[in-house]
Amino acid sequence: MDKTTEKRLLDAAIEAMHRAYAPYSHFHVGAALLDADGRIWQGCNIENASYPATICAERSAISAAVSAGVRKFSAIAIVGGPNGEIGDICTPCGICRQVLCEFCPPDFPVYLGHSQGHTVLALRELLPYAFSLLETEVTS
Ligand code: THU
Repeated sequence: MDKTTEKRLLDAAIEAMHRAYAPYSHFHVGAALLDADGRIWQGCNIENASYPATICAERSAISAAVSAGVRKFSAIAIVGGPNGEIGDICTPCGICRQVLCEFCPPDFPVYLGHSQGHTVLALRELLPYAFSLLETEVTS
């Protein structure tokens, strides 16, 4: 991915993080999903008084895109930190890794922003041996 797109994606994740609704944990997360047409789908964490009802930023972004009929993606950027202060990388939780694997291939790049820049990991590094019932790529 070119540097301009990388910056656009990471900036979109930061923008989304500022919209996090996290009155319980105060941990703000933003995600930005780049689709195959170059559009960006943003998501933030949305907490709930019934804690397990919380949705993570990554799944918010995937929900926004898939609900709009978009299922082909080329990268995701994720940032997060206490009260939106970005320090170390914020890696996706196990459920979000599994949800990403539903729509994205093993070599899918996951950009993790931190205070000094970003790290890129392949989805297979975050979730090796992912569970799948599909034998072929999702197209429909
Ligand atoms: N969170 C995310 O949004 N994404 C992750 O992958 C890790 C956790 C959120 C959920 C909750 O609102 C807060 O971070 C603290 O767990």
